Amino acid sequence: MAKYRIAWMPGDGIGNDVMDAAKIVLDRLKFDAEYVPADIGWEFWCSEGNALPERTVEVLKDTTCALFGAITSKPKEEADKELAPELRGKGHVYFSPIVKLRQLLNLHTNLRPCKAYPGNPLNYKDGIDLVVFRENTEGMYGGVEFHPLPQGVFDALCVHPKMKPFGRAGLDNVAISTRIMTRQACANIVTQAFEYAQKHGYKTVTVCDKPNVLRETGGLMVRTAREVAKKYAGIELWETNIDAQCMWLVRKPENYGVMVAENMFGDILSDLAAGLVGGLGFASAANIGDDYAVFEPTHGSAPKYAGQNKVNPMAMMLTVKLMFDWLGEADFATRLERAVAQVIQEGKARTYDMGGSATTTEVAEEIARKL
Ligand code: NAI
Ligand code: MG
Repeated sequence: MAKYRIAWMPGDGIGNDVMDAAKIVLDRLKFDAEYVPADIGWEFWCSEGNALPERTVEVLKDTTCALFGAITSKPKEEADKELAPELRGKGHVYFSPIVKLRQLLNLHTNLRPCKAYPGNPLNYKDGIDLVVFRENTEGMYGGVEFHPLPQGVFDALCVHPKMKPFGRAGLDNVAISTRIMTRQACANIVTQAFEYAQKHGYKTVTVCDKPNVLRETGGLMVRTAREVAKKYAGIELWETNIDAQCMWLVRKPENYGVMVAENMFGDILSDLAAGLVGGLGFASAANIGDDYAVFEPTHGSAPKYAGQNKVNPMAMMLTVKLMFDWLGEADFATRLERAVAQVIQEGKARTYDMGGSATTTEVAEEIARKL
């Protein structure tokens, strides 16, 4: 029996191209795993009315972790139009399968490393090596939203004096998206950030929020971070406002190490950070829970490049590296990252986004040769 069972979820579009590339490297490493294919994505929405079929959830329960490519998602009208005729009008509602996975499996921690590998022509600056920890299940993306605003919710919110004036607009004209945060989730994400900093030798953890305006939620995040920080003597806690932080990331990205934020702020922060080190072709991510994890490149299904063997597989390679880290396969992780760095530095095998003309497969094979 293989050492690991890995759920294999290419999904849509270039998700397939980059997963094929990952396989080249995994095979070269003789990684001792059984790959269990699992259905996810637009095709299954269209044919079954569910982009994350129940059988996929069952497969996940029976695997060590999952490797995921990308999915396509489309606005409501198009989703309804592309649903198989026999399924229409039966109450099927499209939801993002990856958001659903995060909630279903309580994958509370989203980790996104952003490193400027020397020689990458897309680097914004040299010396960038930061990691964003994003809370993955609550906060602004917790999904508690209303429009129109139910009378009962309005009445209940009127215990707050600032709520009453909104009633004048008419409840049909009021939309609410909440930002609900718990001390437990704040403590957890900050703890993950500090643990990572300690393990990988980062000197600072920067908590980014907006506690001067979002006094309750932002305040909870920052106060909780201070509590957690007391347990990590050698690591400094920096507190910044998210808006100023965006400016500082553009001005002095090399000053930052580990960064931590709530769901939406973390989402924005990590895309900004990824943009500093080569963009979507390099951005890897891990969704980590207590005993399961789903690894995915940050990019989507890029339909216009689907099946063309053209996109950059580096994001996927670095995603596989994150999987090795999580599995405790330190030797594989080091070898893979070193090979990626070497291929970037040599600059011979480059996909179109790096100004080259190599195919996805050629880059993967070049990395495999360096292993
Ligand atoms: P996208 O990430 O799919 O592509 C945007 C552009 O970025 C591409 O046209 C391409 O120029 C570039 N790009 C992306 N990945 C690349 C790679 N590996 N190498 C080189 N260039 C790359 O985002 P877009 O076009 O906004 O969305 C397309 C579909 O993907 C949509 O249906 C969207 O909902 C979905 N999506 C899915 C995500 C996921 O699976 N986690 C995340 C983001 C979007
Ligand atoms: Mg994003």
